[in-house]
Amino acid sequence: MTNPANVIIDCDPGHDDAIAIIMAASNAAINIEAITTVAGNVSVEKTTLNAQRICDLLDLNNVPLAKGAQRPLVKESEVAEEIHAESGLDGPQFPEHPVKTIEEIHAADLIIDKVLTTNKPITLVPTGPLTNIALAVIKEPAIIPKIRKIVLMGGGTFGNWTPAAEFNIYGDAEAAKVVFESGVPLTMFGLDITHKAQATDRIIDELAAIKNPVANTVVEMLDFFKHTYQEYFGFDGAPIHDACTVAYLIDPSIFEFKHVRVDIETKGEFSYGMTCVDLLGVTGKEPNVHFAYGLDEEKFWILLKESLDSY
Ligand code: BDR
Ligand code: CA
Repeated sequence: MTNPANVIIDCDPGHDDAIAIIMAASNAAINIEAITTVAGNVSVEKTTLNAQRICDLLDLNNVPLAKGAQRPLVKESEVAEEIHAESGLDGPQFPEHPVKTIEEIHAADLIIDKVLTTNKPITLVPTGPLTNIALAVIKEPAIIPKIRKIVLMGGGTFGNWTPAAEFNIYGDAEAAKVVFESGVPLTMFGLDITHKAQATDRIIDELAAIKNPVANTVVEMLDFFKHTYQEYFGFDGAPIHDACTVAYLIDPSIFEFKHVRVDIETKGEFSYGMTCVDLLGVTGKEPNVHFAYGLDEEKFWILLKESLDSY
């Protein structure tokens, strides 16, 4: 077996963020170096509490967890309680007080420390707004050539928060601009692909048959998440957006990519936070993103089932 990917998951759990962590922790192809949190779906206090709860569920005692940015670089925070509810992770019942401790270091500093001091190539896996990653890059540009790559969920050729913008990129477009222009190799899982990873009743029933505490928690999360997607967007199921990043790191053959230029809109009246994906190469600019556009759905769900089965 090849060396595992050493990852820092920078997240805003979030139902699908939680499933991304669960999938990553179950597979020997991934070594979680750290988990960092950011304001996004809900406040950073709540996303951090939710990350603690997931760490407790999985017994991730040895993985450092650090809290990050409370708000975007420039604008005010906007949360997505319509989608993830007030707690950010409604559905399952978690113990009120988590056991998992939080490191006394800011997420951006933990990212810098890990990248500079760990003798292994680090892959960053952001599944929320890109504030912490941008802060790390701005504070210590020496990390740029040392990051193996950034595998992120965000953007797409259409939006879900505005007609033009996806939530994570809209959440901090200025930060996204820093990251997309950083020169670090980027692999992007936008809405074009993540809407294909949609957990319908059939899939949720299959996961419910696994019956262990982790699988049961995922089923409770998906039942809740599916209902919000049905109500809010009229979907049949819940897209597990963020888990696409981890699925790719475990088995890249699940996805197809185009190497393209993606620029971030930070000024438009109607298009703030849009990812301008140059699919036809009209800008003539050097490509900066491996843009995921094809998904082998069967392989994706088998991977999730195997992951939950392993607990
Ligand atoms: C993204 O926004 C959040 O609601 C999800 O966790 C995902 O990261 C999808 O637009
Ligand atoms: Ca997320």
